[in-house]
Amino acid sequence: MATTPWFSTSDSCWLRPQHVLPLLGHGPQVLGDGRLQTTIREELAAAAAEVAPGPGTTKPGEHALLLATHEDLALTHPGMAAAVEPALVGLGPEGYVTTTHAGTDLLTAADARGLLHGFYALLRDGLAVFDGSTRREEPTCPVRMVNQWDNLSADAPMGSVERGYSGDSIFYADGAVVQDRRRVKDYARLLASVGINALSLNNVNVHGPETRLMTDHVQDVADLARTFADHGIATYLSINYAAPIEIGGLGTADPLDPQVRQWWVQASEALFAQVPDLGGYLVKADSENRPGPFTYGRTHADGANMLAEALRPHGGTVFWRCFVYDCRQDWRDRRTDRARAAYDHFMPLDGEFADNVVLQVKNGPMDFQVREPVSPLLGGLERTNVVMELQIAQEYTGQQKHACYLAPQWKQVLDFDTRSADPRAPSGAAVRDVVAGRTFARPVAGVAAVSNIGDDVYWTGHPWAQANLYAYGRLAWDPASDPDDLLHRWSRLTYPDLPDVQRAVVDILAGSWLTYERYTSPLGVGWMVEPGHHYGPSIEGYEYSAWGTYHFADRDGVGVDRTVATGTGYTGQYREPWASVYESVDRCPDELLLFFHHVPYGHELASGRTVIQHIYDTHFQGVEEVQAMVARWEQVADQVDGALAERVSGRLAEQLRSAREWRDQVNTYFRRASGVDDARGRTIY
Ligand code: GCU
Repeated sequence: MATTPWFSTSDSCWLRPQHVLPLLGHGPQVLGDGRLQTTIREELAAAAAEVAPGPGTTKPGEHALLLATHEDLALTHPGMAAAVEPALVGLGPEGYVTTTHAGTDLLTAADARGLLHGFYALLRDGLAVFDGSTRREEPTCPVRMVNQWDNLSADAPMGSVERGYSGDSIFYADGAVVQDRRRVKDYARLLASVGINALSLNNVNVHGPETRLMTDHVQDVADLARTFADHGIATYLSINYAAPIEIGGLGTADPLDPQVRQWWVQASEALFAQVPDLGGYLVKADSENRPGPFTYGRTHADGANMLAEALRPHGGTVFWRCFVYDCRQDWRDRRTDRARAAYDHFMPLDGEFADNVVLQVKNGPMDFQVREPVSPLLGGLERTNVVMELQIAQEYTGQQKHACYLAPQWKQVLDFDTRSADPRAPSGAAVRDVVAGRTFARPVAGVAAVSNIGDDVYWTGHPWAQANLYAYGRLAWDPASDPDDLLHRWSRLTYPDLPDVQRAVVDILAGSWLTYERYTSPLGVGWMVEPGHHYGPSIEGYEYSAWGTYHFADRDGVGVDRTVATGTGYTGQYREPWASVYESVDRCPDELLLFFHHVPYGHELASGRTVIQHIYDTHFQGVEEVQAMVARWEQVADQVDGALAERVSGRLAEQLRSAREWRDQVNTYFRRASGVDDARGRTIY
């Protein structure tokens, strides 16, 4: 594959040299010699090498374009600096201002981070912002993080990237850190271009080799962190809670043991001395066989606060995950319902965490299913810093073989008001307010998400899975964004000269999340996937098979009773009005009915259909929608280059095969279980 000075891989992506052309045409001048200003200059030069004879030629009659922090501006253009100063008052370090002053279009910011964000905004949106007005822009979520689930070696239990569907890691190979860093730099550019400001460098499941990132590979970690810092991104390490034992030679990892505490203080000191761009640690403890404070009879607050204390002198932060449950337990039992676990573990600790600890809460109580209710911890925790964790990687949503644009799902989560069911009476506690830190005036808040990239030429396996990475960044910046609008923008940026392709891709992706839901698990019941790898249908598939199914289907009905009255009591974890809404079989929204209730097949939904007829109808409809997606793509496929067309067509063919398999297995299973025929007489095998 031909590589270019612009990208070390295919440039079929939203960040393209063409988008720099309008800036180049205005002879952009970048003031200052900081690392982020250098990055902007490099970006301009790389584009110029690709698409223009050279930067610096202003067309007659057009404004010059100046990019400068306010401080640099004041040195050379004091008049302009004074004029723009009021617009910067109260703007955070990542915010920026665009304005026009005496014939110069100006992008300025208090901090170079804001300047970089503003620069990439000009690439995305063009120069129309310079319309004579002054605009201020800044991110809503302070933390906008991606989590790599990359392992040092492909021999790791789940391969080189856990739940990775895009080839191998761009960071590690054969137990070592990859030395050719071009791909890493390109990734830093991609992330910066959508406003990401934090990244964790290795899988949350930290095994032996990754534990040694802190010691044996520390220089490489420093280099990687520098590349990200050059793009305004802080780097975090996933750490092994038992590191004091595994690499420290201690006999314990008890968080209250003075020796253990001292070990973390010294290890952190050594790390920060060599990796000045480090942001802190990400921790998965006491979950899925990972070590943690429970072993010593201590709480998660004890564990997290110990690390926080070690990081404090360096300004570091601990991200402590709430994905904690006992995977060896049958979690459908009243006392051990896995949906309850995160809240049961963490809610009693609200207020006990240090101010440089952030709890990282998955969006739903289970595990990134196509449909889940919002975690009751979001909006529950009031005296604790919180970030919400999403999964860009499509573990349960088609593994980047299926086209599934997830932004509409994320948007629904962000818009969920934890204390009001009335959209006209917002309580200020919608998830988007919580992750902005607004609801409870938290100093740290935001979102994190499991990345979906690898060393694939198109980054994401399915080239259209890039839309999810793009949209994640933009929603994290502004949760009020409209997913449809983001999709249009992504498509225009990715296929700049191909309007037919742009339209077709939007048509295909816009409803693809709901399409995926239709042909897979209905009404919020979740799972029904092959255990282990989680791809494709296995209606009774259950990770711990001895205990039966996830969905409790029998000849009379289906669904999990999570009510307080007769079920696992999970509905009681919600604030009102949701505790009552979910408790009531009549008020519970259709799309979550089987998550909260066990109902007869003949139960009538709010839609007027019975549960069983809903299952049949949606599964037939889902496959028809995938057929339409395939046909829509065929109308335009010959307009893109052959390799790209082949990749997309191949994935769509697999999606159609898989959707049919899902339809047939689900419909047949429930036809046999219920004994009820399809009211519309379609063939069910
Ligand atoms: C899911 C996923 C695991 C992952 C875990 C986590 O269960 O299947 O691979 O380790 O989430 O978020 O920690």
